[in-house]
Amino acid sequence: MKRCATLIVSLAAAAGVATSALSEGDAVADAPQGAPILIAYDIVDGQSIPTPLSDLPGDPMRGASIVAAPEKGGCLACHRVAALIDQQPDQGVSGPALDGIASRISEGSLRLQIVNIGIVTPGSAMPAYYTIAGVEPLTPGGAPEPLLSAQEIEDVIAYLMTLDDG
Ligand code: HEC
Repeated sequence: MKRCATLIVSLAAAAGVATSALSEGDAVADAPQGAPILIAYDIVDGQSIPTPLSDLPGDPMRGASIVAAPEKGGCLACHRVAALIDQQPDQGVSGPALDGIASRISEGSLRLQIVNIGIVTPGSAMPAYYTIAGVEPLTPGGAPEPLLSAQEIEDVIAYLMTLDDG
């Protein structure tokens, strides 16, 4: 009995964290298959999402492809990454170069800026990659989807964490 009560309390606590951290407009909605559209995350001090969004660790190789592919992250439309010059020679300069980024900011801060940079830099030209607020469903009546999945966000972070100055 006691164990049961503890379980209920911890579930309630987890649910509290879950809903409070999503951005406004990111209502807790389920995709038609019943899976949640967004994994809930917890923002610490308005600066950082320290906990990964996916159970599987990010894959830096996949992350590099997502960063470089215009139809995926499309990050190089605005950012420069010298290590990806062969994969994507056409790189933009409207955002800061991401070379050495892992030496400048923490993994948690990186995660928050990719999830929703508007929380840190309101009005940023950079898209929020993990929100459904204001996103139209691809098919009428379908569920809206974030630009990148939780696993893709972790793959991108795993790649960016390899870009240090050392
Ligand atoms: C449309 C342009 C654009 C795209 C696309 C874009 N960004 Fe950005 N990004 C910016 C700008 C501009 C900033 C600087 C903050 C600001 O002024 O808005 C920024 C800031 C950042 C920062 C913080 C850099 C620092 O030095 O603190 C990171 C990390 C970042 N972007 C990663 C990414 C990743 C990863 C992608 C792709 C998944 C991406 N960006 C796509 C424009 C863009």
